[in-house]
Amino acid sequence: MSENSNPEVRKGLYGVIADYTSVSKVMPETNSLTYRGYAVQDLVEHCSFEEVFYLLWNGELPNQEQMDEFNKKGRSYRKLDPGLISLIHSLPADCHPMDVMRTAVSYMGTKDPEHFTPDKDHITHVGHNLLAQLPMAMAMDIRRRQGKDIVAPDSNKGVAENLLSMVFGNDPDSPASNPEDVRDFEKSLILYAEHSFNASTFTARVITSTRSDVYSAISGAIGALKGPLHGGANEFVMHTMLEVDDPARARDWVNTTLDNKDLIMGFGHRVYKNGDSRVPSMEKSFRALAERHDGARWVAMYEEMAAAMDERTGIKPNLDFPAGPAYYLLGFPVDFFTPLFVIARVAGWTAHIVEQYENNSLIRPLSEYSGPQQREVVPMDQR
Ligand code: COA
Repeated sequence: MSENSNPEVRKGLYGVIADYTSVSKVMPETNSLTYRGYAVQDLVEHCSFEEVFYLLWNGELPNQEQMDEFNKKGRSYRKLDPGLISLIHSLPADCHPMDVMRTAVSYMGTKDPEHFTPDKDHITHVGHNLLAQLPMAMAMDIRRRQGKDIVAPDSNKGVAENLLSMVFGNDPDSPASNPEDVRDFEKSLILYAEHSFNASTFTARVITSTRSDVYSAISGAIGALKGPLHGGANEFVMHTMLEVDDPARARDWVNTTLDNKDLIMGFGHRVYKNGDSRVPSMEKSFRALAERHDGARWVAMYEEMAAAMDERTGIKPNLDFPAGPAYYLLGFPVDFFTPLFVIARVAGWTAHIVEQYENNSLIRPLSEYSGPQQREVVPMDQR
C-alpha cells in the first residue's frame, strides 16, 4: 500500500468481518442470537448447560446416550488436584479472582505434555478438564478468602449444581439445595456460553492462529474478559447498584454520571444497538431470583436505572445488567461474577479454538503509520 493511498482505518475493528464461523450468529437487526442455528431463548428453556456445551462443540444437540457419555467423561475430570490447591492457597488473598482463574489455566498447561497438540480430540479433552477444574478453582478461592474448607466435587451433579454446592455447601439454605436457584443459575451459564467474535473469543483465536496452545489461548481470553468494557462489566454493575444503594437515587446517579461523560456499565453493546438478545431471558431469571430472595430493592434499582438510561440516551441494557444482581442474589461475592462468566464461556472459546485450528490463517492486520517521518539518528553527544 503506498503512503498516499489514504486507506480506511477501522479503529476497534468496528464493523470488520474477520472470518467465517459456524458456532453462533448475532443478528442485531432482530435482536437475536443462535448457537449452531438454535435460538438462545429456546436453548435456555429446554436444555441443560451440558447439552449446550455439547452442541457448541459438536454442532448438534446430543441424544440421551451421547449426553450420558459426555457427562460421564466430563465428570471423571472432577478430581481435586493437590498442586492446584496449594497454588491457589499460595496466591495473595486480596488479588483479583480473575487473576486466580488465569493462573489456574496456565498451571494446567504446564502439566499437560500434549499441550501443543492442535486437534479436536485434544482440545475437547482440555475443555472437559477446564470445565471440571475451573469451578473447583473458583470455589476454593472463594472459600479460602472466607476461611472455609473445600467442598469436594460431586460427580452425580450437573455443572451448575456442582458449582453452587462447592461454593455454598449443601445445607438446606444453600442455593445448591434449591432446584429453582440451580436452574436460574444454569440459564445464566447458557446465556454466557457463546457470542461470536467478541473481544475474548477473538483474543483466543488470535493466539490460536499462531499455532500456540489451547491453554495460552484461554488464559489470553481470560485477560481480555477481565476488562470492564467486556466481561468485567457484570461486577461493575453490582458495584454501581451497591454504591447507589437506594432506587430513589438511581435516576439522579445516571444523569450525573452521563453529565460527567462517564460510562455506565451494563449498558450498550458493540453489535446490538437496539437491545441485547440475551437480556429478556436473563431478566426473567433475575426477577424470579428476586422473588425468592427478597430482592425487590434490586429489581427497583434495575428498572429505575434502565428507564433513566433509555430516556436520556436510548442505550439499552446488555446481558451483564441483569446477570450482576442475579449473581448477587445467589450469594456470590461481587468480584467473582466475571470468573462465573469464564466458566460458561470456556464452551464458546474452545469451540472457536477448534474452528480456528481447523481452518487456520495467521491473524495479522495492518496499521496505518502516524508517527514522525523517517529521520537520521543524531549521536548522543550532539543532541
Ligand atoms: N454509558 C454511557 N455512554 C455510553 C455507553 C454506556 N454504557 N455505551 C455507549 N455509550 C456512548 C458512547 O460513549 C458513545 O458516545 P459518543 O458518541 O458521545 O462518543 C455512544 O454511546 C456510542 O457508543 P458506541 O459506538 O455504540 O459504543 P461502542 O460500540 O464503541 O462500545 C461498549 C460498546 C460495550 C464498549 C460500550 O457500550 C460500553 O462501554 N458499555 C459499558 C461496558 C459494558 O457494559 N460492557 C459489556 C458489553 S456486553
